[in-house]
Amino acid sequence: MSRIPLSSKVRALKPSSTVAVTSRALELRRAGVDVISMSVGEPDFDTPAHIKAAAARALSEGKTKYTPVNGIGELREAIAAKFERENGLTFTPDAVTVTSGGKQAIFNALFALLDAGDQVIIPAPYWVSYPEMVRFVGGEPVEVHTRAEDGFALDPDAVAAAITPRTRVILLNSPGNPTGAVYPREVLQAVADLARAHDLVLLTDEMYEHLVYDAEHVSVGTLAPERTITINGASKAYAMTGWRIGYAAGPADVIRAMNAIQSQSTSNASSVAQWAALEALTNVDATAAFVSGALAAYRERRDRIVSGLNALGLRTPTPDGAFYVMADTTPIHADELEAARRILDDARVAVVPGTDFAAPGMVRLSYATSLPLIDEALKRIGGLLQGQ
Ligand SMILES: Cc1ncc(COP(=O)(O)O)c(C=O)c1O
Repeated sequence: MSRIPLSSKVRALKPSSTVAVTSRALELRRAGVDVISMSVGEPDFDTPAHIKAAAARALSEGKTKYTPVNGIGELREAIAAKFERENGLTFTPDAVTVTSGGKQAIFNALFALLDAGDQVIIPAPYWVSYPEMVRFVGGEPVEVHTRAEDGFALDPDAVAAAITPRTRVILLNSPGNPTGAVYPREVLQAVADLARAHDLVLLTDEMYEHLVYDAEHVSVGTLAPERTITINGASKAYAMTGWRIGYAAGPADVIRAMNAIQSQSTSNASSVAQWAALEALTNVDATAAFVSGALAAYRERRDRIVSGLNALGLRTPTPDGAFYVMADTTPIHADELEAARRILDDARVAVVPGTDFAAPGMVRLSYATSLPLIDEALKRIGGLLQGQ
C-alpha cells in the first residue's frame, strides 16, 4: 500500500512522550497487574444524580436535535448568571459560547486570535495541550518559567521580560494543571496591567476554579474585562469529563469569531449534555453540595499525598488548587521519563513524567483517587526507593 502523505501541520504536532508510559500501563493491566492509576486528569467521582436525571429528561423529551452553534439560550443565560454570581464578571448571553469541552473553547479562541508567528506567553510548567494548540494554529509559544521552590508562583517581571512586538496573548491557568498553583490577585493585577500597556489579550483557563484550598480564586477578567477571554467548563468541577461541555465568554467580536469557527467544524456541543450542564448551573444548592463534598475529599487526599511523598524524600510542594502534585523524582532517576518508567514497572503506579509539561526532573501525580489507593501507592513507591 502506498503511504498517504500527511499535512505539514500534523507532521509538526509533537507526539506525547507520556504515550509510552500510558501504553505500558495498559499493557501491564491487560497482563493482570494491578496498576494504580495516578496519571489521569479527571475526578474519580460519578456525575451527580441530579445532573444525570436532567440528561435523562432531555432525552425522553426529544431534545436530541442540533442546537444553536453557540449553545442553547437557557444555558448561555445560566453561564452568564454563574459568571456574575461566582466570578463578578458581567456578560450578556451573546457574549458566551458553549463548546465541546474546555479544550475546544481554548482551541477556538487561539484560532480566532492568532496569525502566523504571533506569540503566546505561557507560564511553565503548563498543561501539555497549550503549546501544541498554539503551534497548530500557526502561533509560537513562549515559556515563562516558574520554580517548584517558589510553589510555581508566577513572577510578573518574568512575564514582562518575555513580551516582544510579536506577543499577542498571555495564557493563564489558575488553578493550574500540572502545578496546582493559584495566582494571587496582585500577580493577576500586574499581568493585567502588562496586557493593557502592551495591548495584549488575556486568555484565562479557569477549569479548576472550584478546586481551591487555602487560596482565593480571582478571575483576571474582573481586572481587564475589555481584553480577557475566560474559559471554563463542566468537566472538572461537576465530574462531567465525558459529557464534553466547556464554555467561553469575552469581548463580543472574539466570541463571534469563535462561533464562526465552531459553525464550520463541530456545529454545537451535544444537546443532551447542554441540558445536563444547565441543571448543574441552575440547581445551585445540589451542585454546591456536590462540589464542597468533593473539595473536602480532595483536600484530605492532597494533604496525605504531599506529606507522604515528602516523607519518602521526593520533594513535593503543597499546591493550593486542582488535584495534582508535582514530585521531584530525581532521587529515583535524574531523567523523569526513566523515573516514571521505574515507578510504573517496579512500583506499579502510573504517573505522568514532566517532560511534556516543561517540568524536568518531576512527575505529576493526580490525587483524584481514593485515600486507600493513595496510601497503597505511597507504600509501593516507598518500596521502590528502599530497593534502590
Ligand atoms: C488546564 C486544563 N484546561 C482544559 C482542560 C480540558 O477540559 P475538557 O475536558 O473540558 O476539554 C483540561 C483537562 O485536562 C485541563 O487540565
